[in-house]
Amino acid sequence: MIINTELQQKGNQFPNQIIDFNKEVDTLYFKTENLVILQLTVLRDSVIRFRYATGGAFENDFSYAIDEGANRGYNHLEVMSNDLNYIVTTSKLVVHIEKLSLQAKIYDLEGNIINEDELGFHYEESFEYGGNIVKMSKKAQHAESYYGLGDKPMHMNLRGKRVQNWATDQYAFGKDQDPIYKSVPFYIGLNKKKAYGVFFDNTFRTFFDFCHERMDVTSFWAQGGEMNYYFIYGPSMPEVVKSYTNLTGVPEMPPLWALGYQQCKWSYYPESNVKEIAAKFRELQIPCDGIYLDIDYMDGFRCFTWNKEYFPDPKRMVKELADDGFKTIVIIDPGIKIDKDYSVYNEGVENDYFCKRADGPYMKGKVWPGECNFPDYTNPKVRTWWAGLFKELISEIGVKGVWNDMNEPAVMEVPGKTFPPDVRHDYDGNPCSHRKAHNIYGTQMARATYEGVKKFAYPKRPFVITRSAYSGAQRYTSSWTGDNIASWEHLWVANIQVQRMCISGMSFTGTDIGGFAEQPTGELYARWIQLGVFHPFCRTHSSGHHGDQEPWAFDPGVTDIARKFINLRYRLLPYLYTMFYEYTQNGTPLLKPLVYFDQDDPQTHYRTDEFVFGHQILVCPVLEPNAKGRRMYIPRGTWYNYWSKLPVEGGKEQWVDADVDSMPLFVKAGAIIPKYPIQQYVGEKKLEQIELEVYYALGKNQSNVYEDAQDGYDYTKERYSFRTFKMSGRESDWIIQQHKRGTYVTPYDTYRIHLIGLPFKIKDIELDNTQVSLESVQYDDETCSLIVPKNFTELHISGIADNL
Ligand code: GLC
Repeated sequence: MIINTELQQKGNQFPNQIIDFNKEVDTLYFKTENLVILQLTVLRDSVIRFRYATGGAFENDFSYAIDEGANRGYNHLEVMSNDLNYIVTTSKLVVHIEKLSLQAKIYDLEGNIINEDELGFHYEESFEYGGNIVKMSKKAQHAESYYGLGDKPMHMNLRGKRVQNWATDQYAFGKDQDPIYKSVPFYIGLNKKKAYGVFFDNTFRTFFDFCHERMDVTSFWAQGGEMNYYFIYGPSMPEVVKSYTNLTGVPEMPPLWALGYQQCKWSYYPESNVKEIAAKFRELQIPCDGIYLDIDYMDGFRCFTWNKEYFPDPKRMVKELADDGFKTIVIIDPGIKIDKDYSVYNEGVENDYFCKRADGPYMKGKVWPGECNFPDYTNPKVRTWWAGLFKELISEIGVKGVWNDMNEPAVMEVPGKTFPPDVRHDYDGNPCSHRKAHNIYGTQMARATYEGVKKFAYPKRPFVITRSAYSGAQRYTSSWTGDNIASWEHLWVANIQVQRMCISGMSFTGTDIGGFAEQPTGELYARWIQLGVFHPFCRTHSSGHHGDQEPWAFDPGVTDIARKFINLRYRLLPYLYTMFYEYTQNGTPLLKPLVYFDQDDPQTHYRTDEFVFGHQILVCPVLEPNAKGRRMYIPRGTWYNYWSKLPVEGGKEQWVDADVDSMPLFVKAGAIIPKYPIQQYVGEKKLEQIELEVYYALGKNQSNVYEDAQDGYDYTKERYSFRTFKMSGRESDWIIQQHKRGTYVTPYDTYRIHLIGLPFKIKDIELDNTQVSLESVQYDDETCSLIVPKNFTELHISGIADNL
């Protein structure tokens, strides 16, 4: 092996020859003469963990990210050896471990190289902190592309970039700024139509270099801890993302209202202002489900208190809002004001729950309330205490959701904007410094919050939102992308960030619609709400320093556009809810960047703007002022323009009209899109009937519709309704078959079915083998519709082909 002498001079150390090998069930150990150990675990045929120790010993094996319920088990595992390599074979992969160097090469079963070490594992001892700076370098292939990594506000394809993960409170962050709030050390590589993923599960500050330093090398390293990564093979990107999400976990179903529109500002107060905002939504008939109280609802920014001057009777207010369909969500930050007359502070001190500096004093830092101490959420006892603090807010006052902010953790007026590195953490019984706990702090706070809200909201479902997050946070919380700016550039950033979060396991994400810092023009707000209603989490928020940012704060034209698009979101709620269900079941991201949707089409590899909402709706926001439309890439296949219902062939870039009251939207041929009636909030109306928009396609297609009680846990006991629609289109006939699973009885009895793209004149309709009168069919421009009972099994439409 050639050791890079320059690197060696820099203090890098490399494993040398393997002198010992052994296998324990699914785990293989390769030990080198200079005491490096590679522990290789086959979790699944396509998921392999690589973990390296130096000095002959591993740390305690502990991860906050890996979900206990992650799938394990493989079909095949065989280890052979020849002169040069150990060869590990599963039913999906072949891994060579070179005997002289411990370097790994990963092949598929056809012998294609999927991923290959360049220098492989190497390390540098840290004289300042002890332990190692652990490093891994991989060869990068000529046309390889890279995706993922959470909230990075930069081009979708990361090739050519170096990024780092260190959760940072980055007010008014810029395009390409790095790092910002989240740490998701997971990327997807795509080369020659084959995708794989690497999840580097290390909570220290981590770095990823994608051919930035050297054109043919991708590397990643951490300032401490172990080289510990999971290699996840696809070969399809959906398989990679689903496996990663399975490994790090999925959320439970949110209450349906949490998928509704939400309104926020820093801050709505006093009570009369909150009420005024709520009333205005109803008056203007703009649907809204959530209203937020930012820090000013508290007494001197003390968490779990109320400012009694602004909110004399929170319980009454929350109830009155609830009577009008509004769920109240309140902010809770980690900083606990140092104040001897404040019970939360006193409990923290009495029980020793706050983080301490290395030499013993409490970690003290300034946040909104002034000098604060900070709970150590990495201590399970602290999490239990914290969860218990939500009793009054949730059980007594009736708050429905909690918003965790400043949990990077943010500290004001200090250079690093966070805790100093020496602060101590319990790390669930693995005591460590802040260097290791920093990136996970926000997630553990959100976890403790989730446990509290869940406990006291039960039997209803909890709702939590966080700013900082590490891989796995999706099990507990939704998230937003932090303090963005009201600019056109930030609309571009917002679009990418949410797509990126979706393929990084955290689909339940949105941005501050309109921008947090500064003030959007009406046109920018209109374009942002158009995009925002297609984000899994949909909330307007602003700093409130420059003016109002409610849907009516601009001119009446903008109010109408906001209403039109928020209405559309409410119409699409059953579609969105079904997508969410699939996310909870299979890890399927709610939004799919084009490269995820069609990785075999190289045109998609550098696209940023277009994405697929669910499986079947193509969305492309307009990102420039004064636009009458835009050029966009429509992926291969047949699509229907959502507005005109006219078909279009994809596979090329094309101009699409979209004046300011519209945006490019397309539905995939073969899709069935369920729609609810417009409601001002979830549950406002009893559902009398739902609509199914059925888009004709030649051949076979399938769509699903998931419904349940919209809240509560009955769905976990099969009380849901999962309907599968199999559609088969031929030149002169069209068959739709329905199959139902689950015991939930939906409140409506009928569907209004809209047939779109019918290529023939209808001659005959049969519903479960009974003739339907053609008179009952209503014709519109591009569609025709009919009402059918919801439990039909087969609808058969036949006719005379137009071209006959
Ligand atoms: C932070 C949050 C922002 C919030 C503000 C006041 O800047 O990111 O959303 O409004 O603090 O709490």
